[in-house]
Amino acid sequence: MSYPPYVIDQMISAKSIAARIETLAREIHDHFEDTDKLVVVGLLRGSFVFIADLVRELDLPVEVDFLEASSYGDGMESSREVRILKDLRGEIGGRDVLVVEDIVDTGFTLSHVVRLLESRSPKKMATIALLDKPSRREVDIKATWTGFEIPDEFVVGYGIDYAQRNRNLPFIGKVRFTS
Ligand code: IMP
Ligand code: MG
Repeated sequence: MSYPPYVIDQMISAKSIAARIETLAREIHDHFEDTDKLVVVGLLRGSFVFIADLVRELDLPVEVDFLEASSYGDGMESSREVRILKDLRGEIGGRDVLVVEDIVDTGFTLSHVVRLLESRSPKKMATIALLDKPSRREVDIKATWTGFEIPDEFVVGYGIDYAQRNRNLPFIGKVRFTS
């Protein structure tokens, strides 16, 4: 498949992301202060950079697990149908859980994942999304913590892709088509 040419305009710098993560990590620490061990669940693949930076700022005993849900395919539109492609390795019943998502867009993915994980009866569960596009919401859900609210733009970088590209950019940029 070929994609039209585009450029990437920086929207959020690596420095701003790092500063925001420090603040978020302190809030998460206060929320889960008494935990014996927090299970940090990254939603693959978009959250892999965010979760790596977040857990290193988190002064709590943590375990890391991953879950892969699909809704986008390689396009720019949500399919609204969420499938679990890879489930957690560990049990979360009776445990403290933090779900880490890259972007909340229509809200289908996060709400589906939250419902699935709630059904396993965690002790305390919270969610964090690096980015939120509130104007795109179709399902009434908001992450416990949000890094940045952004307008309705398609973004890449810092783990987030367009058709599997640009995940390795250290900043968040918006895609602008040039033709
Ligand atoms: P939702 O189910 O519509 O909320 O979609 C959430 C998922 O769509 C995110 O986890 C991302 O993987 C993907 N997504 C949403 N917006 C963007 C974007 O601007 N760039 C890349 N992926 C996106
Ligand atoms: Mg995703």
